[in-house]
Amino acid sequence: KPAKLWGGAFGEATDKTMELFNDSLPFDKRLWAADLAGSKAYAAALTEAGVIDSDQSSKMRQGLSDVRKEWADNKFVEIEGDEDIHTANERRLGDLVGTDIAGRLHTGRSRNDQVATDLRLWLRAEVHALRSLLRGLVEDARDVAGSDEAQGALMPGYTHLQRAQPVRYSHWLMSHAWAWTRDAERLDALWARSDRCPLGSGALAGHPFFDEEQRRKLSDALKFGGGPTPNSMDSVSDRDFAVEFTQWAALLGVHLSRWAEDLIIYGTKEFAFVSFGQRYSTGSSLMPQKRNPDALELLRGKAARLAGHQATLTSLLASCPSAYNKDLQEDKEPVFDAAHQLRVALEVARGVLTTTEIHPERMRSALEPAMLATDLAEHLVRKHNVPFRETHHVAGAAVRLAEKENTSLAGLSKAQLATLHPAFENDSDADVAALWDFDRSAESRDAQGGTSIRAQKEQVAALSAWLART
Ligand code: ARG
Repeated sequence: KPAKLWGGAFGEATDKTMELFNDSLPFDKRLWAADLAGSKAYAAALTEAGVIDSDQSSKMRQGLSDVRKEWADNKFVEIEGDEDIHTANERRLGDLVGTDIAGRLHTGRSRNDQVATDLRLWLRAEVHALRSLLRGLVEDARDVAGSDEAQGALMPGYTHLQRAQPVRYSHWLMSHAWAWTRDAERLDALWARSDRCPLGSGALAGHPFFDEEQRRKLSDALKFGGGPTPNSMDSVSDRDFAVEFTQWAALLGVHLSRWAEDLIIYGTKEFAFVSFGQRYSTGSSLMPQKRNPDALELLRGKAARLAGHQATLTSLLASCPSAYNKDLQEDKEPVFDAAHQLRVALEVARGVLTTTEIHPERMRSALEPAMLATDLAEHLVRKHNVPFRETHHVAGAAVRLAEKENTSLAGLSKAQLATLHPAFENDSDADVAALWDFDRSAESRDAQGGTSIRAQKEQVAALSAWLART
């Protein structure tokens, strides 16, 4: 039976079930490349510090490269006793170069600073991949919103899911794109805070062979931008980067879900503002007519899963005393899964976004004159200088009158309106008729951020500038 790396003080074998309970290799093996990169840099630092000589160092590093190749070629053989990726790699290094060499690698190092380093290195690559997918999603949204079709498509904007005021489809789409730009910025910011090297902290008390220079060089070799971590106890305790990452993921999940939810509604036959590409829809096993927006429903579902991951991590950490505790082994699966789910989710979101067809005539036919009640009030402000609060009541009374007369707001005559406010006496019939124009309403909202065509183009340009900056 293979001896445990930590077995010296133990006279009894670990219970079989306990061993399975303890093993993390089944899920942390995905850290293999990060773990070997960390070990290579660590071997170089040990050489610098005079702990191993250059012959031992080059044999050690060659051995690490050979282990790397085994993982890369899918030829690494796991054996009993490989409890996690760190022990597995060190054990295999010993097989290849002998334990006289391999047995020196862990000098001054603990799996505590090792795992904290590995997880950051792994996450760094994910952060870059996710960042570029997210950028791509914003770019796709910008492209769609930049089209004449999307800007020309006037649809009801909703609050409380009740028809509110006319807005452009591009305006609606960019409302989501701006949330995604904030997600991208949050990712940059959280990574900037996480970008420090815990390696060289030992188990908790610090490194017995390194000096400041060696920790800095180790950090540089592993390309951490922020240098070594400042406190060895904090180094092995700190999982803020994992918490922040899952919190970030949860919020991005919320944003993707809200976008998806809007689209699911817009895609119903009752709305029919959009229809979805067949490549991102699925059918029913029973009802032949069905085309279901499963891609969007899954995006909505993933938000719940991502929210769970951040809850797991925050409660995991809240109960841990400082420095390392084995609870921390539970930090990995939520992080791995959050990254994996979002990688796929973002790709699917891009696919849906770029293949969704829009139906501007359906959108337009859902507009109704009541959505211009605010415009009626604004007319009294603009043309007749009536205080808005008063005009709001007048327009409200007009809505009621139209309901009573069984007509639409646009069906009220100038004379009927004049019974509600004398200022209408000074309007011509044409002045009043001109109010019931959805495009005019949209074009009147021309301040930055509004729904006029000019404001759409301004937003598209602002998104382009954001894309160019990041
Ligand atoms: N597999 C462990 C983890 O993921 C590595 C660190 C183990 N450290 C220890 N002191 N037992 O957290």
